[in-house]
Amino acid sequence: MDRQQLQSLLGQMTLDEKVAQLLQLATPFFEGADDAGMITGPMASLGVTEREVRGAGSVLGLSGAQQVIDIQTNHLKFNRLGIPLLVMSDIVHGFKTIFPIPLAIGCSWDMALAERSAEVAAREAAVSGVHVTFAPMVDLVRDPRWGRVMESTGEDPYLNGLYARAFVRGFQGKDLTGDTDRVAACVKHFAGYGAAEAGRDYNTVDLSERQLREFYLSAYKAALDEGCEMVMTSFNTIDGIPASGNRWLMRTLLREEWGFDGVLISDWGAVKELIPHGVAADESEAALKAIRAGVDIEMMTPCYVHHLADLVRSGAVEERLVDEAAMRVLELKRKLGLFERPLRGADPEREREVVFCEEHRAAARALAVKSCVLLQNDNDVLPLAPAAKVALIGPFAGSGDILGAWSWQGAKEDAVTLHDGLLAAGLDPARLVVADGCGVDAAATAEQLDAALAAAREADVVVLALGEHAWMSGEASCRADIRLPEAQLALIAALKPLGKPTAAILFNGRPLDLHGVADQVDAVLEAWFPGSEGGAAVAELLLGKASPSGRLAMSFPYAVGQVPVYYNAYNTGRPNVPTAPDHYVSKYLDIPNEPLYPFGYGLGYTTFAYGEPTLSANELTAGGELTVSVRVTNTGRRIGEETVQLYVRDIAGDVVRPVKELKDYRKLVLAPGETAEAVFTLAEPQLRYYHANLTWTSDPGEFVVFVGPNSRDAAGVRFRLTAAV
Ligand code: GLC
Repeated sequence: MDRQQLQSLLGQMTLDEKVAQLLQLATPFFEGADDAGMITGPMASLGVTEREVRGAGSVLGLSGAQQVIDIQTNHLKFNRLGIPLLVMSDIVHGFKTIFPIPLAIGCSWDMALAERSAEVAAREAAVSGVHVTFAPMVDLVRDPRWGRVMESTGEDPYLNGLYARAFVRGFQGKDLTGDTDRVAACVKHFAGYGAAEAGRDYNTVDLSERQLREFYLSAYKAALDEGCEMVMTSFNTIDGIPASGNRWLMRTLLREEWGFDGVLISDWGAVKELIPHGVAADESEAALKAIRAGVDIEMMTPCYVHHLADLVRSGAVEERLVDEAAMRVLELKRKLGLFERPLRGADPEREREVVFCEEHRAAARALAVKSCVLLQNDNDVLPLAPAAKVALIGPFAGSGDILGAWSWQGAKEDAVTLHDGLLAAGLDPARLVVADGCGVDAAATAEQLDAALAAAREADVVVLALGEHAWMSGEASCRADIRLPEAQLALIAALKPLGKPTAAILFNGRPLDLHGVADQVDAVLEAWFPGSEGGAAVAELLLGKASPSGRLAMSFPYAVGQVPVYYNAYNTGRPNVPTAPDHYVSKYLDIPNEPLYPFGYGLGYTTFAYGEPTLSANELTAGGELTVSVRVTNTGRRIGEETVQLYVRDIAGDVVRPVKELKDYRKLVLAPGETAEAVFTLAEPQLRYYHANLTWTSDPGEFVVFVGPNSRDAAGVRFRLTAAV
């Protein structure tokens, strides 16, 4: 099917058939379909007819090779022009083989493994019949109260952009038509969803265009520059207009300024939500505003199928808009080769070999090892001493609830628990005593507490396996109190008097307020929700078979009262300078300004020393390059991986500038005593930003380049940019 044939197909379609292509329904609408043509499912609840379901353009939440084959085959029988369904699903960090949550992957700073995770997810999804995944989610986040931080890669636009590209490459590959082991990607949620006020999901977002462009938009643009096929609208408002009805955001910026001509799909129900938002009086006005904004597919609400044809017939909407939307949907089907191969990669036989295979699980394990972040390791409690007797205590000791909130195809019972991981990694069962101690949020019973105390007493070291239920983060799962549940804090306090060396392993979906944890234990390893192989990965780290190398992609607040707290903030006119205390400065009376652990932070099992950064010159001209070098030495006793980070500060801009901006990083693997040089190049384009009039350019003046192990402990050197572009 070429473009000309597609145009001809469009020309054969009735207005109602074109509108039906813009309808996306969940799987139940198509299940139970049989030769009699009766479709079971909640049609009545949504007020759609059999004709509309038969004409629908796509289905969401469907997977399983045989089920897809059955539904697609049946759909083609009843679709007048034989137009196949697009099968879309949320494959966010794995299909059946669940990888660490994206916030964990964000801490790996390893784009090759990130890309591999998406490639594996695509391979398993495609053989199970999926054509499009609703990923990557690239919303920038600064508020750990928001449940969906788990789905993001953190607070930095540069790093988010690298991950956006890596995920799109992994999902889509280089030949979406010929390579049926890949799926089309859908970057989401456009735009600014992570800036919800008060960290409450679906809440108002009100950002200046500068903030939006400087921090929130760049990763979506990176995904599209990498060839991402689809965009999903966000639930929130932007400048008072919900994204799904926002013509500036969708037409002016996305389609005209960025030149995106792919499919734009609403988030679930977001078109009809224009009514409760208060910008549409009814479904008809919602349909009018959404189609004018350029939304092609309406997910799971019937405003388009109920009203769009009438709006065209009444002249309120030009049929051209419907034709363009339907054409984009048909074009995506063409790109995926669905007209020639409507079953595409669905293959029940191969599905059994590919899905959850050892090769995929090994990839998940490798990424989980890289995604864990060692936040504290007083007295070198980790790695565990080879002969130590270990008390593994806590609700996550044997829990499979380590897959995270977007793991609907993954099975907790298939997950490697920490307990099983330790034994599989060679820990002698005779040296392991286990007690659950308490529930995730259920207080310890007397028996549980007694058993935990007894286990700790007989052990040389205590490993606490703590965290959040997976459902305590993710969509609509926000928390105002981001500490560990009281039950677990009480367990830590009860064990403290025993004075045993203690390491806390955290399985959670957000940066936590670690009061009652970090101040009570020796070591803290942030494991996030590490996925199907999580227990195996953490065990490798605890036993020293691998060293932690993760670096935080999102700040850990000192307390929730600091939120939002992020490294690339503005200096203010009254910065709080701890070395020069003053009352009338930007500060709190009761807590520090600094987060507990900053962006980019993470420890390993060795230590590194940094030389002073040196520059090839102290002036940079437009068109020229500066080389920035720093020598790093492994001053410890174990091999280790260091992520050397390069930040820049523009001392005086046309508008205020962040005190630091990540611009590059290098990974060095160094043996004990080994020294290597990290070398970076800086060029004028990396110094550009949105000026007062929103032009994207640089200006001459003083800058500081910082190099170091994280956003806090980085040494700075000044240089000048000598000529504006
Ligand atoms: C949800 C989410 C979105 C997801 C969609 C389909 O509401 O916001 O991320 O892709 O619905 O499941």
